[in-house]
Amino acid sequence: MTSSAERLWQRLGSIAYGADYNPEQWPRERWDTDIRLMRQAGVNLVSVNIFGWASIQLAPDEWDFGWLDDILGRLAAADVGACLGTGTASPPPWFSRRHPETLPMTADGIRLSPGGRQHYCPSSPVYRSAAAEVARRTAERYAGHPALAAWHVNNEYGGHVPQCFCDTSAADFRRWLHQRYADLDTLNDAWSTTFWSQRYTDWEEVLPPRLAPTFANPSQQLDFARFSSDALIACYRAEAEVLRRITPEVPLTTNNYTKWTLDSFAWGPELDIVAFDSYTDPRSPRTTMEAAIAFDIQRCARNGEPWLLLEQAPSAVNWRDVNLPKSPGRYELGSMQAVAHGANGAMSFQFRQSAGGAEKFHSAFVPHAGADTRQFRDVTRLGRALSRLGSGVLATRHTAEVALCFTWPSWWALELPARPSSLVRARTELARWYEPFWYSAVPVDVIPPARDLSRYKLIVVPSTYLLSEAESAALCDYATGGGVLLVAFFSGIVDAHDRVPQGPYPASFTDLTGVRTEEFCPLAEGTTAQVHFSDGVTVTATLWSEFTSAEPDVQILARFADGSTDGRPAVTRREVGRGQAWYVATALDEAGTAMIARQARDAAGVLPLVREQTRGIEAARRHSGDHDLLFLLNHAAAPGHATLPRPGRDLLTGRRVSGRTPLEPYSALVIDLEHHQPE
Ligand code: GAL
Repeated sequence: MTSSAERLWQRLGSIAYGADYNPEQWPRERWDTDIRLMRQAGVNLVSVNIFGWASIQLAPDEWDFGWLDDILGRLAAADVGACLGTGTASPPPWFSRRHPETLPMTADGIRLSPGGRQHYCPSSPVYRSAAAEVARRTAERYAGHPALAAWHVNNEYGGHVPQCFCDTSAADFRRWLHQRYADLDTLNDAWSTTFWSQRYTDWEEVLPPRLAPTFANPSQQLDFARFSSDALIACYRAEAEVLRRITPEVPLTTNNYTKWTLDSFAWGPELDIVAFDSYTDPRSPRTTMEAAIAFDIQRCARNGEPWLLLEQAPSAVNWRDVNLPKSPGRYELGSMQAVAHGANGAMSFQFRQSAGGAEKFHSAFVPHAGADTRQFRDVTRLGRALSRLGSGVLATRHTAEVALCFTWPSWWALELPARPSSLVRARTELARWYEPFWYSAVPVDVIPPARDLSRYKLIVVPSTYLLSEAESAALCDYATGGGVLLVAFFSGIVDAHDRVPQGPYPASFTDLTGVRTEEFCPLAEGTTAQVHFSDGVTVTATLWSEFTSAEPDVQILARFADGSTDGRPAVTRREVGRGQAWYVATALDEAGTAMIARQARDAAGVLPLVREQTRGIEAARRHSGDHDLLFLLNHAAAPGHATLPRPGRDLLTGRRVSGRTPLEPYSALVIDLEHHQPE
């Protein structure tokens, strides 16, 4: 049976391309001009009505869909699909005035006011039912409408208010805890409440972790992070249920992001298509790799299904201190990068740059200066390039043989206060292990361990501090079953409630790796440790060292070579069952991490996608029965090259390419490789 997502791809026939379009900000005379420019730029999908609530529900009983009828009619006539917003992310002023209890509250008890956007408590039943009613009316009105291509539910859930601490949220938190723990004894046990006299005797005593004199209970904070992410999902479901009932054939999406607050892996199953907003900082030297990591996380949220880049900035944003434009080529390359990582769409915020409001200096397809601009020419060039990829690309899937382990509960728990070192950050450690694969043309997935691990040849666990029993068992089984598992320091330290099992660290892996840690020895900022490999190489490590010892059958690849951990095993490998377990007890520098990643990759038999390439070239593969697409992206400011495994045809230029293939700075090739003909 064709899924609603597949129906969308079939309808579009090529990569989704377009932007948020806010016709309500413009006089109707301009709408036809805008639609003409959309066609000129190759736009096939626009997000409309994202913030339309106040323009649709003028008062509790006064509705006006006239403007939306009009613009949807014009879009349909121009064959531009609508990713139709339910418009519920910013309640109108009349609503907040009438229902002040729906306004969210911060941890220190401050009620947030209307006047910006997203001023609602995600647990508020009043807000939820009002939003569901707006969604219901919108869905009933546009069910079967030719412009309706997909639903864009709400907008960036939790982007501004990821957690609410009001009394409504407190009651919802207690209900959530009741479901999770059933009785208070179990909750007391899970939260270790004998510590600091925190034992609860009545559910009403249980509160969100509001501002307290000192560290709030970490297990309570962790559960509140879980609850808050779930509350946003529940808020989404209130609208989603209505939409699914009225328009079951239309796919549902909402634009997520990769932040600490919202568990993207929990969102995946809720959506028909995962959508992601990517706003990497052009000033950051790691911006392209950071984008790649986020893309991989989002793709893996729905097990590798095609996803949508729903927002990015065509050039500058307006919300950093200093907002640099993207340099020429970067917008197109960044869009192609999303497609390389499995996206079936490269959309942006926004189509026409606003004249007023908080985002008037945010870039757009059509800037204030109009369509005779570099920006609009870039946009048009990208539209053409994406359409040249054709429909074949839509059915291909990104493939990877290596997985990096990542979970939100671990991220939440790791970054709570009162840890051995606040310098150990989940995303930084993920990036540390992502980098060597990225630079060596080896694509990866980023997944929680509760997945089918058997499809991977190598799995890296980068400081995944919290692992449930089931998660660590799955990882250990993976290794003994024949996989290569590489565990980096401070992984598998606590259980699902942030409690430390008795015995040496890391409880989840000591039996597997044969390495036992008695004590952590984190390194202060600016200090380093030397790590000496048995083949004579010495590399530098930062952040962390530990007092380790190893079982006799563990092969010690490197030892700490100075400081208080001098002589202790730092990098180890052990044969376990049919596979291998590696342990890295510190944060190696780039060269050291690359060396170990390379050795583990060789041990796992993972080959890069190209034979060799200049630094800064990223490679990805999308595959289907008919096509084997090799994406090569040169993120460097200098010309580069890559040596192809087989000849093929570049879909962007139609040229046949083979062997050592040059790439201009900031350029991409999408090579449809020839089948089974080794050069
Ligand atoms: C996103 C948001 C958009 C727009 C954009 C600006 O977070 O979903 O509505 O505000 O940022 O960069």
